[in-house]
Amino acid sequence: MKNINIPEDFHGVCTWQSPSNIALVKYWGKRLPQLPMNPSVSFTLSECRTVMRTIFEASDRFSLSFTFEGKPNEAFAEKIRRFLVAHSDVFPFLDGLSLSIDSRNTFPHSSGIASSASSMSALVMTLLDIESRLTGEEIDIRKASCLARLASGSASRSVINKMALWGKTDAFDGSSDEYAVDIHDIAAPVFQTFRDSILIVSNENKAVSSSVGHRLMDDNPYASVRYNEANNNAKRLIDALKNADLQCFMDIVEAEAMQLHAMMMCSKPSFVLVKPETIAIINKVKQYRVATGVPVCFTLDAGPNVHLLYPDEHYAAVSRFIETELMTEINSLKHIDDKVGNGASRV
Ligand code: PMV
Repeated sequence: MKNINIPEDFHGVCTWQSPSNIALVKYWGKRLPQLPMNPSVSFTLSECRTVMRTIFEASDRFSLSFTFEGKPNEAFAEKIRRFLVAHSDVFPFLDGLSLSIDSRNTFPHSSGIASSASSMSALVMTLLDIESRLTGEEIDIRKASCLARLASGSASRSVINKMALWGKTDAFDGSSDEYAVDIHDIAAPVFQTFRDSILIVSNENKAVSSSVGHRLMDDNPYASVRYNEANNNAKRLIDALKNADLQCFMDIVEAEAMQLHAMMMCSKPSFVLVKPETIAIINKVKQYRVATGVPVCFTLDAGPNVHLLYPDEHYAAVSRFIETELMTEINSLKHIDDKVGNGASRV
């Protein structure tokens, strides 16, 4: 990595926003250096974002101060420091900079929505923006995705507009384990405006961190079957996106959510992240789909919250279903209306 000269009066402010994303085919299981054991496919979200504002100036040594929503947050500052130290060869210019970062999320603080994808991708875009101001070179989105991946695997997908594929598969030319690629061009119009209504079942912190969960796949007796399934599902999902095959899309998305949680339940030690309410919602969604023919399916992240995915034209019907059949039955259920959106951008 070439060293970059920092002018003494170098300073500025930059603000980046980066969204969360929801995996359709799940990344669960990894190898060094943070490479996936199978390809994953995601929708980039629009409403659930991190907005990160950074003040930077030349300094005789690196320093970082970090606040979350205006308040000091040493735990997150430490996570950023560890990432920067581990990859100091990629960001040599940081040696001569002082950074003051304030980060905030557009989604409620304790909503159980993982913020590592949005926050770590916003951080990487910020650093590459500062580098680009020093070198005059444009930000390379592949490099951004690759560095975001090193910070948090799923963050690699958040820099990409609308739909991302991370991981090598012969179903898509140019796919790579190193970075995510944009696949939204291949998808039929119905998927370009897909909705994601996020049902917040619980806002508790995750019982198991995703890094522990990934590691437990190393000794999971079903791991090779799972990786094989995920590879096939990635290929079939890409075809379903191309062919506007909603039935196939829903089958794969739900199977992926179930397999992700099945892997957790048969890890050693096992863990259960779904709640009774999660199961109740899943059953209700299946009944509703059969009764009405509305093409709505569910997926889960590494937690109890349920994402309902469906075409935009069914927004009114699904909203009514959420209000009349889910909110009335499930205590203190909250929801966030989200949809397919663009990747990281400068504010
Ligand atoms: O990016 P990580 O290490 O937090 O892992 C994310 C794993 C899942 O959210 C469960 C699945 C995925 O592909 O996003």
